[in-house]
Amino acid sequence: MSIVEKFMTMEYGPAPEDPREALAWLDRHGRRFGLFMNGAWQAPAAGTYFDTADPSTGERLAVVAQGSAADVDSAVKAARGALPAWQSLTPHARARYLYALARQVQKHSRWLAVLETLDNGKPIRESRDIDIPLVARHFYHHAGWAQLLEQEFPGYTACGVVGQIIPWNFPLLMLAWKIAPALATGNTVVLKPAEFTPLTALAFAEICQEAGLPAGVVNIVTGDGSTGEALVKHPDVDKIAFTGSTEVGRAIRKATAPSHKKLSLELGGKSPFVIFEDADLDSAVEGLVDGIWFNQGQVCCAGSRLLMQESVAEKLIGKIQDRMNTLRIGPPLDKAIDIGAIVARVQLERIQRLVDQGIAEGATCWQPSIPVPSRGLYFPPTLLWNVHPTSVVAQQEIFGPVLAAMSFRTPREAVELANNTVYGLAACVWSESINVSLHVAAQLKAGVVWVNCTNLFDAACGFGGYRESGYGREGGREGLLEYLEPVWFKDAPLVDATPLAMDQPPEQPADFAAPPIDRTVKLYIGGYQARPDSGYSIEVHGADGRLLGEAPLGNRKDIRNAVEAARKAEGWGRATAHNRAQVLFYVAENLSQRREEMAGRLSAVVGKKQAQAEVSLGIERIFSYAAWADKYDGAVHNPPFRNVALAMKEPIGTVGVVCPAGVPLLGFLSLVMPAISAGNTVVAIPSEKYPLIAGDLYQVFETSDLPDGVVNIVTGRAAELMKTLAEHDDVDSIWCFTDEAGAAAVKTLSVGNLKQVFTNEGRAIDWFDVKQGEGRWFLDHTVQVKNIWVPYGE
Ligand code: NAI
Repeated sequence: MSIVEKFMTMEYGPAPEDPREALAWLDRHGRRFGLFMNGAWQAPAAGTYFDTADPSTGERLAVVAQGSAADVDSAVKAARGALPAWQSLTPHARARYLYALARQVQKHSRWLAVLETLDNGKPIRESRDIDIPLVARHFYHHAGWAQLLEQEFPGYTACGVVGQIIPWNFPLLMLAWKIAPALATGNTVVLKPAEFTPLTALAFAEICQEAGLPAGVVNIVTGDGSTGEALVKHPDVDKIAFTGSTEVGRAIRKATAPSHKKLSLELGGKSPFVIFEDADLDSAVEGLVDGIWFNQGQVCCAGSRLLMQESVAEKLIGKIQDRMNTLRIGPPLDKAIDIGAIVARVQLERIQRLVDQGIAEGATCWQPSIPVPSRGLYFPPTLLWNVHPTSVVAQQEIFGPVLAAMSFRTPREAVELANNTVYGLAACVWSESINVSLHVAAQLKAGVVWVNCTNLFDAACGFGGYRESGYGREGGREGLLEYLEPVWFKDAPLVDATPLAMDQPPEQPADFAAPPIDRTVKLYIGGYQARPDSGYSIEVHGADGRLLGEAPLGNRKDIRNAVEAARKAEGWGRATAHNRAQVLFYVAENLSQRREEMAGRLSAVVGKKQAQAEVSLGIERIFSYAAWADKYDGAVHNPPFRNVALAMKEPIGTVGVVCPAGVPLLGFLSLVMPAISAGNTVVAIPSEKYPLIAGDLYQVFETSDLPDGVVNIVTGRAAELMKTLAEHDDVDSIWCFTDEAGAAAVKTLSVGNLKQVFTNEGRAIDWFDVKQGEGRWFLDHTVQVKNIWVPYGE
C-alpha cells in the first residue's frame, strides 16, 4: 500500500476527552444543586428538584433545584440589596472584578468545556475551542468597558436589577453575553439558565465566589419556563434580557408591557447562506459545514437556508454531499467528532417532525450513509433540496442539523429570497467579487452579515437581530446601552405628576395676530394634502375655549395609506447623509421664515412664551439633527481574527411616532427630526391638543425638498390611530411619547411583528432642555447596527 493510499484509508481512532475533573466537581456537590442567592447555595423553597442528563447517553448528571416564584423573589431581593454597594464602587473596582471572572474562566476552561459538553451534547472541539474562549473574551472585553464607563457614557446610569433568561444551545456563552455587560455597567443580576443545561451556570456561581464577587451581585435561579415567567413578572426587576424562541419573546413583550421594565430580545432566525457562482465553492462548502452543522444546527444564527446561484447549484449539491459523507457524528467528548447529540428528546422529535413536513411539502431529503450511534439523542446531518420558499422548512426555525436548499438566478432574486422570512438575525454571502458581496450585504435584513466567512463572534461586535429576530444588541458599545439609561430619565416624574416646565397657564394672545377662525387643515400623506377617509373633522379649541379651526378625523384607512406612502419613500434611507442634512437645514430655514405666524397660532393653545420658545428651539433642534445626519455614523471593529467588522448604522425603516400633547411643535420636531435624519420614514400622529400644527408643518415640508412620503401626518383621536399604527405589520418601530397608558399600550400592541418600541414610559420630558429633549438617546433609537464581517489576507 502506498503512502497516499494509506493516507486516504486512514480511520480516526477514539480520542475521548477526560471527564474526570468535571465529574469530580459534580460529585463534590453531591450531584445535587440548590439555588445560588446572595453569594451562597440555598435549597429551593418548595423543595423541588429536576434531573439534568447527558443527551449522548441519557444518563443523569445531577439534580437541580426548580426555582419557584418565592425563590425568584428572594433572588431579586438579594440583587436589590447588593445594588447600592455595587453601584458605588469605582469603575476601576468593578473592572477588577470582571477581570477576575475572566481569569477564573480561563483557569477552569478545560473542565468547564467538558461540563458544557456533558450537559448539552455539543462536541468538545466546539466547547473547548469556541464557547469557553469566547466566554473569557467577553469578560475581558467588559472589564475594559467597566473601566471606561464614566468616560464613555457620561450622564448614563445602570438600569438596576436585571432579570436574564437564557437558552440551552450555548449555555455558558449566553450567560457571559448577559452577565458581563450587566455587571460592567453597574447592574446586579438574577439569571435563569435553561432547564436542559443548568450546570455551567452553577459552575459559574462558584467562580463568582472564587473571584470574591460581592454577595447578591450575581444570583442564579434554575428552573423551567415558569421560573422564567416569575422573573419576568417580578415587580422589582428593572430590565429583562432574553434569548430564546420568538414565541416566548412575544409572551415576554406582552408580560412586561404594563411595567417600566426595559427589554432586549434575541430570538430565532432562519438565516440565508448565499453562494454566488463566482464564489470559491470549496471554501463556501467548508463555511456551510460550520454554518449549519456547528452545534448540531442548534444555533439561532445557523445558515439554515442555502441559496445557490442556479449555474452552480448542481455542482454545489455534489460537493456538499461529498463533504457530508465525511462528517463524523458520535460521542461529543470524542475530540474527532463533528456532530454531537441533540439537547433533548423533545428537540429531536421536533426536528424529525419538521423534516417530515418538509418532505410532505415536496422537498427531496438526503442523508449521508455514515454511522449514527443507536444510543443517545442523535440526528444525522440532513440536506433538503427542491425546497419551495414558502415551505415550512424554508420559513420555520428547525434548530437542528438540517439544511434547506434553494436556487436563484440573479443577485436581486437572491436578496428577495434571503429577505423572505419574518426573521433577520444573520446572513452569509459568498462571492469573490467584493462589489457584489457588499452590495448584497447592504440589502440583507440581518444584524450580522458574514462575507466569505461564517459564525464569527466577538465581544467588541454587537450581535442581534432585525425584525422578528428581536431587538437590542449583545456585545460592543451598543450592547452596553441595553443596560444603561440616562440619569435624568430614570428620575423623571410621570407626565401627570408634574407639569412641564413651560406648561404654564397660557396668556391671551393679545399682541399676536389673531388666529384665523375656521382654519381647516388636511392630512399629509405621500407628499399630498389629503382629505380624511371618514369625511369628518374634529374641532380644535384654544386655551380660552375659542374655536381655532378643524383638523381631519383620520381613521385606520388613513393610517394604512400613510404607512404605504412611508414604505414607498424608503429610498430616503439610501440617500446620502449629506443630502439628508441639506434637506433638514432647508426645513429649518423655511420654518424660520414662518416663525411669527406659527408662534402666533400656537400661542392660542400654549401661551405666547411657550409658543415662541417652541418655534425658536424647534429651529435649533432641526439644525442639531441636520448636523448629526452625517456624523452619527458607524464603526470599524478589529476583532481578534483576520477580519474587519463594519458596524453600519442602518435606519430601522418605517417609524410610527405618537407625539406628546403639551408641546405640539417642539415635541413633534424632537421626535420626527432624529428619525428622518437617520434615514427612516415616518407616520406621525401630532399633538392631540393642537393637531392644527400639521398644517404649518406640511407647508414647511412641501417647500423644503423633503421627498414625498418621508413624513406623513395623520390627525384624529390619538389613541385610536396609535392602535392601528402599533399593530401594523409594515411598521418597523413605534414611538409613543404621550403618557403611561400610551407607553403600555404600544408595547402590547407591537407584539404581532415584534416591532421595536421607544417610549417615555409615561415620564415627563422637558423638551426645552437640550439634555433631555435631543441627542444620542434619541439617535440610538433611530438605527440598528448591522455588522458586516469582511475577511482579508489569503
Ligand atoms: P424557549 O424560548 O422556550 O426557552 C428559552 C428560555 O426561556 C429557557 O430558559 C426557558 O426556561 C425560558 N422560558 C420558557 N418560557 C418562558 C416564559 N413564559 N417566560 C420566561 N421564560 C421562559 O425555547 P425552547 O423551548 O427551549 O426551544 C424551543 C424552540 O425555540 C427551539 O426548537 C428553537 O427553535 C427555539 N430556540 C431558539 C433559540 C435562539 O437562540 N434563537 C434558543 C433556544 C430555542
